[in-house]
Amino acid sequence: MNRSITKHRPVMLRETLQELALEPGLKIVDGTVGAGGHSLEVFPKIQPDGRLIGLDRDAEMLQRATATLQQLTEDNVLPQNILLEQSSYAELRSVLDAHEIESVDRILVDLGLSSDQLADRKRGFGFQSDGSLDMRFDTRQGEPIHIWLNKASIEEITSVLLQFGEDPLSPLIAETIAEHRRKKRIETVSQLTELIETVASGRGKRGGKSHPATRTFQALRIQANAELEHLKRFLSTTAPESLAPDGRLVVITFHSLEDRIVKQMFQDRSVWKSSSKKPIPACPLECKMNPRSRSAKIRIGIRAD
Ligand SMILES: C[S@@+](CC[C@H](N)C(=O)[O-])C[C@H]1O[C@@H](n2cnc3c(N)ncnc32)[C@H](O)[C@@H]1O
Repeated sequence: MNRSITKHRPVMLRETLQELALEPGLKIVDGTVGAGGHSLEVFPKIQPDGRLIGLDRDAEMLQRATATLQQLTEDNVLPQNILLEQSSYAELRSVLDAHEIESVDRILVDLGLSSDQLADRKRGFGFQSDGSLDMRFDTRQGEPIHIWLNKASIEEITSVLLQFGEDPLSPLIAETIAEHRRKKRIETVSQLTELIETVASGRGKRGGKSHPATRTFQALRIQANAELEHLKRFLSTTAPESLAPDGRLVVITFHSLEDRIVKQMFQDRSVWKSSSKKPIPACPLECKMNPRSRSAKIRIGIRAD
């Protein structure tokens, strides 16, 4: 990968390529193209004649994907049989219809967010930045998460933090947010991080493995983007309607909420004729070299006829 285009290292690349079982001529969708790390390796394996459709909800990530995939040609233009579109993978069927593509042979989705998004201070994804608390992948849709955080009830905030972050301190964090916003609206990453650090240190939680704000930020990002709704819609409807019979779907998840949904949905034998019994984890060497891969798991579903 060209390090000036992206900081993101594609996770479980070897295992992903193996499970996609690529052949020349296949049509493949990279539903979360990001900076194009997986796609860069996938595309040559489906040539000649194969087609790659790359989707991402984030327009800035598509610019990075374009720059990455332009490296595939000598004159630095995007190959003709690559199509990149700003869309959720949950809307894949509409994208295929718009381009008169009946079905595809493979789909990859590598869930969550990219290291580039995390590092971009103005997006509000990382608790180490001091940007505005926005957290949307697609800034054309919905509202920045700070708008919700300043109007939701304590019960709603507790429920989102508990459900999507599974942090036992959620009720206390929600109460502290509600108390603070009575005096001053919470709009920046640093305001929220400081509040959470105060709650955690009051509970003697300091210096643990991960920063005390990790789970709250994960929960708010999932809420801001309705991530689990997109995933469920994709697995129940969009992916089966888009894949050819025997087509393969490879999903890389990063936390138990996502993995549970994928595991459960893949059990529907009227849709998926087979699926992985156990998820594939990243190998110890990759976990050492790329800490993001430590929580990564791959599951594969094969579409019924
Ligand atoms: C882990 S990154 C993908 C990295 C990519 N595989 C690579 O190697 O560069 C996840 C990407 O998925 C995008 N994303 C998240 N939810 C999405 C959705 N529902 N539809 C499409 N893209 C989504 C994010 O904007 C982000 O760019």
